[in-house]
Amino acid sequence: MIRPRRNRKSKAIRDLVQETRLDIKQLVYPLFIVDGEKKKLSIESMPGIFKFSIDELLLEIADCVKLGIHSFILFPSVDASKKDTTASYSYAADNFYLKAIEQIKTKYGEEVVVITDVAMDPYSSDGHDGVVKDGKILNDETLPILGKMAVAQAKVGADIIGPSDMMDGRVAYIREALNEAGYTDTSIMSYAAKYASAFYGPFRDALDSTPGEGDKKTYQMNPANSIEAIREAELDELEGADFLMVKPALPYLDIIKSLKDNFDLPIVAYNVSGEYSMLKAAAEKGWLDEKAVMEESLLSIRRAGADIVISYFAKEYAMTRI
Ligand code: PBG
Repeated sequence: MIRPRRNRKSKAIRDLVQETRLDIKQLVYPLFIVDGEKKKLSIESMPGIFKFSIDELLLEIADCVKLGIHSFILFPSVDASKKDTTASYSYAADNFYLKAIEQIKTKYGEEVVVITDVAMDPYSSDGHDGVVKDGKILNDETLPILGKMAVAQAKVGADIIGPSDMMDGRVAYIREALNEAGYTDTSIMSYAAKYASAFYGPFRDALDSTPGEGDKKTYQMNPANSIEAIREAELDELEGADFLMVKPALPYLDIIKSLKDNFDLPIVAYNVSGEYSMLKAAAEKGWLDEKAVMEESLLSIRRAGADIVISYFAKEYAMTRI
């Protein structure tokens, strides 16, 4: 008899033959930022996750750095009074999100990686990632806005620009805009295969960014499709992306694997808000062992082929490693 169980007979042997590991350095922690001071606001649908004003954000980052987390992806939660149809606040000189990036980079320099969000929805009174006209999302009219947003973020020191909008041609447009402004070293992490997913629900609660009218299905991908993910990734690679992202992660492990098999760029998976909240909710009820399902989920995303995992569990995971 052939006995595969021999390689599982002790923890030490299991550790020795383990094929996939997760290093804290491969994790990116998402952080939500609000305007003002001394704010640390909880988000009902995301227990353990907060919206921070800049002062509190710097304390949170200091905590994370001590735990070994060095990469952060930042999202602004913008007051409704600052939102308009063209997301003009996204590149305004007094934008608190830009100030936050600047302060983080001034304090930490190359010690941390700051990944930004480029999309209109946090700043749009329509709650869409593109300009809306007569109920339609206009692609080419959106690109210059994304370009301005990206340059404004690069100017304050962002390491990596993260276009999450899914407009066609935006990676090339942003690359060109960055180059023209002299930011040839600023990277682009493109949300290459971003699905029209209901798992974004808690994130939209946090940012109050649910679309006013309609849904995002004319720009985000149909969850039923996988060949289309390769097409999207090919375009983003050709247009100059430095990283390719799949989002969400757990319901899309096959897509992560397919991108890993077909591309040489680092593959990023975004373990999104709904994936986090459902485990948290079940754990709160005592139905699941939180630490165990967190570790299993993150490791599964790595096993599928993700080189980098963006997760709201990053800090908690790092805390279990001390
Ligand atoms: C939108 C954006 C979304 C997320 C990140 N950027 C949601 C959406 O498309 O409405 C979701 C992230 C998460 O659910 O954690 N530009």
